[in-house]
Amino acid sequence: MELFDVYPLFDIAIDHGKGCHVWDDKGQEYLDLYGGHAVISVGHCHPHYVEAMTKQLNKLGFYSNSVINPLQKELAHRLGKASGYDDYQLFLINSGAEANENALKLASFYNGRTRVLSLEKAFHGRTSLAVEVTNNPKIIAPINDNGHVTYLPINDLPAWEAELAKGDVCAVIIECIQGVGGIRVVTKEFMQGLRALCDKYDTVLICDEIQCGYGRSGKFFAHQHFGIKADLITVAKGIANGFPMSGLLIAPKFKPVYGQLGTTFGGNHLACAGAIAVLDIMESEKLVENAAEVGSYLIKRIKEENLPHVKEVRGYGLMIGIELDVPYKEIRTRLVKEQHCFTGCAGTNVLRLLPPLCLTKAEADDFIARFKAVL
Ligand SMILES: Cc1ncc(COP(=O)(O)O)c(C=O)c1O
Repeated sequence: MELFDVYPLFDIAIDHGKGCHVWDDKGQEYLDLYGGHAVISVGHCHPHYVEAMTKQLNKLGFYSNSVINPLQKELAHRLGKASGYDDYQLFLINSGAEANENALKLASFYNGRTRVLSLEKAFHGRTSLAVEVTNNPKIIAPINDNGHVTYLPINDLPAWEAELAKGDVCAVIIECIQGVGGIRVVTKEFMQGLRALCDKYDTVLICDEIQCGYGRSGKFFAHQHFGIKADLITVAKGIANGFPMSGLLIAPKFKPVYGQLGTTFGGNHLACAGAIAVLDIMESEKLVENAAEVGSYLIKRIKEENLPHVKEVRGYGLMIGIELDVPYKEIRTRLVKEQHCFTGCAGTNVLRLLPPLCLTKAEADDFIARFKAVL
């Protein structure tokens, strides 16, 4: 059998990793400013993570959600404390799209409505409702195109109010720092206005923190830069450093009903052990603070270098977009092939930096040297 060929691949097989570096099967080292698509939070193969996962696997990898899982309770407690959402409830699933599906479903159970507002250029995943709220017609199949969604411009509060005032909007779903959309950031005024409007019209505010959350922006959640709280928050990617897991943080006003939500694999013992180890490391190594400090340093350094082709540098923490005045393709490919450095990308002209949160200033300098060499 052949693989279903949906990914344009670099001709490289990554074999092992350590911290912010990976090596291919020929022994070539790469600096990882991509973090496996924002997934590697605490660094590749962190010894504490490896030990916790190994220990758990030797004890029990999986049992179903029909019995008490103390690891889920511990994770909920720890995540509540780490994120400042102590009074929220946690539902555990397996992927970002699945977290958004459950968020939208819960919002609709809550207020009985079916319309959703989403940002232009939004990306929320590739399954049913998650892809419908994603603003990319190329990946919405006819079966997903069910007319639930209105896409609106970023930071244009009057446009959002005009829709919300109709009184029929179930939920607003929003990435405060858009990833796939090219590191476009909301303003504080917009986010605070939107929060107030959602309250006024009984619309559920969902913050998709799958890429911008879990410490990446230099605060636990990106929306915390804008002084608001969300009703529902979705997390995935960095939560278990690459072991598939996602979560939905749920405000106290939502009351659980047996059978409404459920999953076979979600919150299994091995995933929880990984997620708890991630929180251990984030706390002991102060990785949220590190993302803030090294991220500001990196943004400042790129700006100061006055590099050719660099039009704008934007972002928070270690979620950085470098807008180029040329398509990113050649530069990104040369970074990989000649300088052995992975980065992400967005749109046609944006390089996206999403390194592990343990990136050091020396590694940030190393990136700049490798980047300069291909400009
Ligand atoms: C903001 C955002 N939401 C949702 C998703 C979907 O996550 P997954 O691929 O785990 O389904 C992604 C993935 O890139 C994302 O960046």
